[in-house]
Amino acid sequence: MTAQRHIIGQERKYSRATGSLTGLLMDLIYASKVISREVNKAGIADVLGLTGDKNVHGEEVKKLDEYANMRLFQAMDHGGHLCVMASEENDEIIPIPQEFPKGKYVLLFDPLDGSSNIDVNVSIGTIFSIHRKKTDGEEGKLEDCLQKGRDQVAAGYVIYGSSTMLVFTTGQGVNGYTLDPSVGEFILSHEDIKTPSKGKMYSVNEGNANFWDDGTKGYIRYLKEKDAASDRPYSLRYIGSLVADFHRNLLCGGIFLYPADLKDPKKPKGKLRLLYEASPLAFIVEQAGGIATDGTNNILDILPTELHQKVPLIIGCKEDVLKYQEFVKNNSPL
Ligand code: AHG
Ligand code: MN
Ligand code: MN
Repeated sequence: MTAQRHIIGQERKYSRATGSLTGLLMDLIYASKVISREVNKAGIADVLGLTGDKNVHGEEVKKLDEYANMRLFQAMDHGGHLCVMASEENDEIIPIPQEFPKGKYVLLFDPLDGSSNIDVNVSIGTIFSIHRKKTDGEEGKLEDCLQKGRDQVAAGYVIYGSSTMLVFTTGQGVNGYTLDPSVGEFILSHEDIKTPSKGKMYSVNEGNANFWDDGTKGYIRYLKEKDAASDRPYSLRYIGSLVADFHRNLLCGGIFLYPADLKDPKKPKGKLRLLYEASPLAFIVEQAGGIATDGTNNILDILPTELHQKVPLIIGCKEDVLKYQEFVKNNSPL
């Protein structure tokens, strides 16, 4: 069962479907195959290293960040399914070139997540979020991009790892497709993914431990206590690629945390971005039976005010995330 056939099968369940979302997903699939090819020969092609530029977040842009960003834009700009795009690598929204027809969807994406891992051959990914246009007129606007995660039409990611996998949801459960490079097709390999209600792993950058709030400190200390009845101590698994950490926890069970980091008063909101990292993964995890929070609010209920807005992200198995929220609520250092 190829991704194309499976997606078309899903579309047929909706009598009013126009095929535009299917077309949009097909264009995304094409882009992910091209990026996968480049990622998997990165060591050979001259796409390792830095471009010398910095993005809106002040982060050094890797050549592969830029390559993936360009490939996504080129694959998505002419299909007639989109009215606007926004990318982690572009300060402003990206209009659809005037020579191409405009559509009713909005695409937000992190073209390459986990960039710090590109040159050391660790799994990286692409994350995408799709909304419906809500303003009048043909052209998409910033307002069309600043929508709550709960209103997403679809969300997904591609992980370029030991194999290349596409995982996404359109609100009817989560499916995973593995790329068969010999055919150049994504094949349905993980149908209706459900994440366990409770895990045994946690993923966090312990290097920031001294800068967490007391609730977070208490929760991480709690995970390290010995208590066989609740599978504690948990194992620590942290790759530094959100997509790779999230994907492992989704399949095996676990909790990922990038809490607010109080060392930089200007960065109380954590490092990860709401629109094209937290929101799409929150939609996926909720569809798989998990949950995502910023510590107090469900990620999907946050109304964005800025394109590159950052949020603390705690995401994974429902029981684990709710336990974290208890610690934050009681602010109990233990
Ligand atoms: P990106 O490469 O798109 O900027 O994302 C990097 C993010 C995310 O992938 C990962 O979870 C996090 O940065 C790791 O941050 P630390 O190195 O601070 O732990
Ligand atoms: Mn990222
Ligand atoms: Mn990125």
